[in-house]
Amino acid sequence: MRTAIYPGSFDPPTNGHCDIIKRSSKLFDHVIVAVAENSEKVYTFTVEQRVKMLKDIVKPFNNITVEHFNGLLVEYAKLKSAVTIIRGLRALSDFEYEFELALMNRHLNCDVDTIFMMTDEHYSFVRSSLVKEVARLGGDISDKVPPIVEKYLREHYSK
Ligand code: PNS
Repeated sequence: MRTAIYPGSFDPPTNGHCDIIKRSSKLFDHVIVAVAENSEKVYTFTVEQRVKMLKDIVKPFNNITVEHFNGLLVEYAKLKSAVTIIRGLRALSDFEYEFELALMNRHLNCDVDTIFMMTDEHYSFVRSSLVKEVARLGGDISDKVPPIVEKYLREHYSK
């Protein structure tokens, strides 16, 4: 069985993430959407909230599961018997960081490969931090995130 891991902060998930999830479900037998929990990082949404949003998003796909992890990604991949890490690329500007991440992961475990998937061009400018800023300032984000994420954002910023 070919298992791949799609890791990220997903704080919160966007339609760009959903697009990668949908595409990867066709390429692998099983995809684990792995939500990072890094105690050094400040997230807008708790890991439980991020997992909950993603579980709702992956409902239509029977080969996708959602989990959370902490520690090294390559260790988690080994634990899950996955040899592929999926990362989405929106634009050239993503490449340098992603290249470093992929090389470091390969240095840590040469059995795990990273593959990059191009996000649909409609989402090339959609990133979690921008979506949060627009939502915080009352802008329309309904076509940038799934309905459950919009609900969480509205609730969060109406407090
Ligand atoms: O959505 P993000 O914030 O770009 O995701 C980054 C993520 C979570 C994939 C990356 O920070 C990660 O893999 N963290 C786990 C810790 C780790 O393995 N660090 C070394 C990677 S070079």
